Amino acid sequence: MEKTLFSGLRPSGRIHLGNYLGAIKNWVLMQETHHAIYSVVDLHGMTTPYDPSKRQEEIREVVIDYLAAGLDPDKCIIFVQSHVPEHVELAWILGSITPVSWLERVPTFKEKVEKHPDFVNLGLFSYPVLMAADILLYKAEEVPVGEDQVPHIELTRQIAKKFNTTFADLFPYPKPILSQGKRIMSLKHPDQKMSKTGDDGIALSDTPEEIKHKIKRAVTDTGDNTQTKSPGVANLFTLLAEFSKPSTFAEFQDAHNKGDLKYSDLKETLAKDIADYFAPFREKRAELLENPKKVDDILEKGTTEARRIAEKNMREIRKACGLR
Ligand code: TYM
Repeated sequence: MEKTLFSGLRPSGRIHLGNYLGAIKNWVLMQETHHAIYSVVDLHGMTTPYDPSKRQEEIREVVIDYLAAGLDPDKCIIFVQSHVPEHVELAWILGSITPVSWLERVPTFKEKVEKHPDFVNLGLFSYPVLMAADILLYKAEEVPVGEDQVPHIELTRQIAKKFNTTFADLFPYPKPILSQGKRIMSLKHPDQKMSKTGDDGIALSDTPEEIKHKIKRAVTDTGDNTQTKSPGVANLFTLLAEFSKPSTFAEFQDAHNKGDLKYSDLKETLAKDIADYFAPFREKRAELLENPKKVDDILEKGTTEARRIAEKNMREIRKACGLR
């Protein structure tokens, strides 16, 4: 039997290289071997400030990005989280057995409080409980994500255990699946992860010119350091390993070891290789933008499939909790 996996992404901006290398590249591979369920998690997206008038458009852009990146609706389920109301119901049930002290320890909560001090809401605090609900609603065993999400998956396991021992043994203990590019850093601030809100994240849909411009401005170092790489340079090498040929990587690595690496050459090659890698993506994306009916049909099919599983599992969960 194929294992079930669940993963999702917030509709807070175009999908960038961090999302792709940390998660979506694996999603595309794993749809071949798993019962794969992928969501645009719009309810999670409400926990940080956003413009409601643009939200539907943003959700659609993410779905188009998913499809252009290689998710195949015949091999996986694609849907929008808020279209399956059982996510919220299960989040309430799980919230009722989750100690507050577990949530206080979550690092992403602390980070977001620092970033948006005027927007510290209950949704942000209970974010990981909704995430546990996303995963457990489908009894998913594997969750392909970037490294920043690992604490959330660990918490999901704890919550699953609490449910299984309090009510009935219904849930598996899901594990995170990490990729090679599990943590891609910001080009301008290489001590922080690349994010959708920063202005230096390379979106998969960026034009070759935009990619070139952003890579050109990437922070490196002052130059004569041959042994250890600065975080910015190390990040560029991580991208080179993903998008360029092994021989190209070896050439630049060799130049670095000898101390005669020219960052301008590295950047030019890297920008071209990234732009070439995503040429088919840009083409497919343009096609999908022309064909809104196709996107609607895919979402409708995905929602029906997700609801079917969610309704079935939710009946069992309600019964275990003494609800009807
Ligand atoms: P989100 O929307 O922040 O990011 C989506 C995925 O991209 C990964 N990622 C990165 N990986 C490597 N380097 C980076 N710089 C980078 N930035 C983002 C994230 O790790 C993630 O896998 N809480 C989740 C969404 C979510 C979810 C879920 C995920 C809600 N419910 C259930 C899995 C299962 C989030 O905010 O992802």
